[in-house]
Amino acid sequence: MKIISIETSCDDTCAALVDFFKEKISVKSNIVSSQIDLHKKYGGVVPEVAARAHIKTIIPVIKEATKRKANSIEALAVTTGPGLITSLHVGVETAKALSLAWNIPLINVNHIEGHIYAPLINKSYRSLRFPAIALIVSGGHTELILMRDHGKYSLIGRTRDDAAGEAFDKSAKMMGLPYPGGPEISRLASSGDHGAFDIPRPMINDGQFEFSFSGMKNAIRLLIKNITYKNRTLDQQTINNLCASIELAIIDVLVDKSLKSIEKYHPKTFILSGGVGSNKKLRAAIKKSIPKNIRFLAPEPKFCMDNAAMIASAAYQKARKKQFTPYQKLSANANWELV
Ligand code: KG4
Ligand code: ZN
Repeated sequence: MKIISIETSCDDTCAALVDFFKEKISVKSNIVSSQIDLHKKYGGVVPEVAARAHIKTIIPVIKEATKRKANSIEALAVTTGPGLITSLHVGVETAKALSLAWNIPLINVNHIEGHIYAPLINKSYRSLRFPAIALIVSGGHTELILMRDHGKYSLIGRTRDDAAGEAFDKSAKMMGLPYPGGPEISRLASSGDHGAFDIPRPMINDGQFEFSFSGMKNAIRLLIKNITYKNRTLDQQTINNLCASIELAIIDVLVDKSLKSIEKYHPKTFILSGGVGSNKKLRAAIKKSIPKNIRFLAPEPKFCMDNAAMIASAAYQKARKKQFTPYQKLSANANWELV
C-alpha cells in the first residue's frame, strides 16, 4: 500500500510518498521546502508570509515527491490541524483538489499524531508496543500523551504557556542568535559551562505532569538584562555558558516529567518526537534514564522536524481501517486537539 501525504501546518511545505509493505514503512520520497530564510529576519514565523510561500511551492513540492513511479496509491493524507490556519488551508485545499482529480480517498491527520508516528518511519509498525507514552516537544507543543492502542490517546500533561521549542527560540532571540534557536543554542552549548548560570526549572518536583516555560523565559530575560547592564555586551563565552545552562534547564524539566509519567503509567514504549526531539543531549538523557525494559523510540533527526512522511505514517492505521473523509467534510482546524 502506498500513501501520498501533504503537510503545511506551519512554515515548511512538505509532501511525501510512503510505502507500507508487510508492516514496514519505507519512504520513497520526502520533500521539505523550508521557509527558515524567509522568517529569519523576523525572528519567528510570520503567518501571512508562511501562507504565501506555501501557495508558491506546494505544487512543485508535490510534483517532486510523486515523480517516482507510483502505482497502487491507496490514499492521500493531509494535516488538517492544529497549526496556522492560513498555512493549513493551502495543504488541505490542494489535497481536496488532487483527491478529486486522481480519484483517491482522503485521510485527515492531526499534526501531533504525525509526530507520534514519526519514529516508526523506516521501521516496522510492530515496534510500537502498547501502552506507550509520547513526549512531543516542538516549537508549538509540549505534551505527554498516553497511547493505549493505535489512535487511542489520552493526555497526561501539557504546557500551560510556552512550548519547549519556544523557550529555545525566544532565549536565542534575546541573545541575538538566529531563528530557529534550538539548533543554535545546542551548538553553542557544547563550548559552554552548563553550571555557569542558575536557570529555574519551573514546576519540577511538583508531582504534576504540566509544564511551564514562560517563567523560565522571564528569568532568562532578567539574567541577560543584568549581564548586559554590567558588561554592556554579551561576549562569546558568556553566550556559550548561557546556552549550556538554558539547554540543561529545559532538558532537566523534560526528563523529570517523562520519568514521573513512566512511574505512573508503566508503558512498554516511550516515544520522543517533535523538533526539540532532535536535540542530542535530550535524546541521550531520556535514553539513559528510562528503565531498560521500556523500548525507546525517537525518529531519525530529519523526521523530528515537520515533514510529510510522518503524516503518512500516522495515516496508515486509518487507511487499514478504511477511515477516509469525503472531501466535502474535510476542512482545516487550527485548534484541533488530539486529546
Ligand atoms: O516540530 P518542528 O519542526 O515544528 C513545530 O511543529 O513546531 O519544531 C521546531 C522547533 C523549533 O522551536 C526549534 O528551535 C526546535 O524545534 N529545535 C531544537 C533543535 N532542533 C530544532 N530545539 C533544541 N535542540 C535542537 N537540536
Ligand atoms: Zn511539528
